[in-house]
Amino acid sequence: MIANPFPLKLAAIDSAGNFTPQPNLWQTQRRIQALIQTYLSADVLCDRLSDLPLQFQTPQPRPWRRLNWQSVNASQIIGIEPLVFIAILAGSADTEEPIRGYTQTSRQYLEPLHPDMARFVGGAVDDRGTLVELGLWEKEERQHAPALQRLYTQLTGLKLRLVSHTPRPYQPTDNPHVDLYYHGLHRIATEYGATCLYLWLMAHTTGPLQSVLEELLIDEINHMTKFWGFGLWAYPDSSRLKVLQTLSQSAIQKLWQTDQHSSLLHTLKRMAQTLHWEAWSFNNKASFLWTFAIALQQLCTWSHSLTPEYLHRLFGDRPGHLINSDVVK
Ligand SMILES: [Fe+2]
Ligand SMILES: [Fe+2]
Repeated sequence: MIANPFPLKLAAIDSAGNFTPQPNLWQTQRRIQALIQTYLSADVLCDRLSDLPLQFQTPQPRPWRRLNWQSVNASQIIGIEPLVFIAILAGSADTEEPIRGYTQTSRQYLEPLHPDMARFVGGAVDDRGTLVELGLWEKEERQHAPALQRLYTQLTGLKLRLVSHTPRPYQPTDNPHVDLYYHGLHRIATEYGATCLYLWLMAHTTGPLQSVLEELLIDEINHMTKFWGFGLWAYPDSSRLKVLQTLSQSAIQKLWQTDQHSSLLHTLKRMAQTLHWEAWSFNNKASFLWTFAIALQQLCTWSHSLTPEYLHRLFGDRPGHLINSDVVK
C-alpha cells in the first residue's frame, strides 16, 4: 500500500471525514456512514425528486465543478490495493457504456406511457427514428466513462480501451405497462448499484481523486431518485416485497432462457467479474456489501415518506392506461 503523504492537510477537505492510510473495517464503515449522511440524506433525496417536473419543462444538465485532474495520484487511494482500485475503475468504465444504447431502449419503453419521462431519459427522435435531441439522462451519463478513463490514465499513464458490448434491445410485448415495469426495475437497480459503487470508492479515496468520484456519485443519485419516484408514482400498488420478488424472479426466469444477456443475475455477475471481485480483501468485500445494505435502508425510509398526495403534486394524474392494471400488484 502506498502511504499517504499528506493525510493531515487533506483530511480537512475529505468528504468522508478523517482517515488513516490503512483503515480497519470499522474506520471504513464510519467513512461510508458519513458519506451516506451527506449524499443520501432525506433532504437531498427529496430535493432531487422534486426537481423532476422542472426538468421536464426545461432540461438543464448539472455542470460539474472544476476538477484538479493533474493532481490525481495513487497516494489518494485509501484502504485498498492501488492495482485492485485501478481494475475497479476500468470495470466501472465498462459498465457505463454504451450509454446511447441504454437511453434509447429506455426511451422506447417509456414513450407509449409517459412521453415527458421518455424525453428526459432518451431525448427525441424524428419520423425516421433519427435522434434529434439528447435526453438529460444521457447528457449527464455520457461524461462518466470518459471521466473514469481519464482517472485510469492519470493513475497508470496508460490509455484505457473499453470492451464494447451490446445493450439488451427494446423487446415490446402487447402490454407496455408491464414491459415498462420490468425494464424500470432494472434501471433503478442499475442506478442504485452505481450509486453504491461510487460512494464506496469515495470512502476509499481522498483529495482530487475523491472529487472526481463525487461528481459521478451526485449524478447517479440524481437519476436513481428520479427513476425511483417515478416508479412509485406509476406503480403505486407494487409493494416493496413485490419489487424484491420481481427482481429475483426475473433473474431466475432469465437464467433458464438462452438469452443470458438479459439476466439481472448475469448483469451482477458480469459486474462482479469486471470489478475483479475475487482480488478484493475481506474488508473491501464486507464494506462494499455493507454500503449496499445501508444505502437501501436509507432509500426505503425516504420512499416511505413519499405519500400518494405528494407524488400527485409532482406528477399530476396518472394516465388512464396506468390505472386499473393489477398485473404488477
Ligand atoms: Fe453513470
Ligand atoms: Fe447511472
